[in-house]
Amino acid sequence: MEQLQLTAGSAGETEAYGRALGSLLNPGCFLALRGELGGGKTCFTRGVVAVVAPESAHLVASPTYAIMNCYEGKVPVYHFDFYRLTGDDDVIELGFEEYFYGSGVSVVEWSERLHELLPEDRLTISFKYTGDDQRLITITGSGAGSTVIMVRLGEKVASIKKTLT
Ligand SMILES: Nc1ncnc2c1ncn2[C@@H]1O[C@H](COP(=O)(O)OP(=O)(O)OP(=O)(O)O)[C@@H](O)[C@H]1O
Ligand SMILES: [Mg+2]
Repeated sequence: MEQLQLTAGSAGETEAYGRALGSLLNPGCFLALRGELGGGKTCFTRGVVAVVAPESAHLVASPTYAIMNCYEGKVPVYHFDFYRLTGDDDVIELGFEEYFYGSGVSVVEWSERLHELLPEDRLTISFKYTGDDQRLITITGSGAGSTVIMVRLGEKVASIKKTLT
């Protein structure tokens, strides 16, 4: 399986996919979120944080102005939004390596702005608007660890769907 495609019919479903993925992540995982405004990236992140750093889940909002929000938990989550990024300098100034290659989980909105600073071992998660409340979420693993997580998420989602039908 090279990629996993999920369809979400509501914001709640997108958040539930985020929770399902959150439960499979390891410290150091990197999530590269991409796709249009209002695609559901922050909504998905809220699900991830609800599992990885539950005491901070209520704080999740687009860090558009701050560039990064840190959610404290057993494993910290570093939540970036690079919508306004114009070059790599801001990211380098931020000391990105400490976060991207540290022992927390990094979640990056607008990761398409990163180019060569994007870590090789990552899960890429693309959000496509397919209707008012409909989103197509495509997940691709690059690197051995990320690919295993993607496959396990596919199994997990399939079993969640089975219990619903
Ligand atoms: N299936 C769905 N999945 C996610 N969000 C949905 C869905 N259906 C409707 N929505 C709505 O779409 C919006 C998604 O907003 P969100 O902030 O998560 O997007 P985003 O990708 O982070 O946008 P931005 O690029 O501006 O940061 C919310 O208002 C949410 O309620
Ligand atoms: Mg957002």
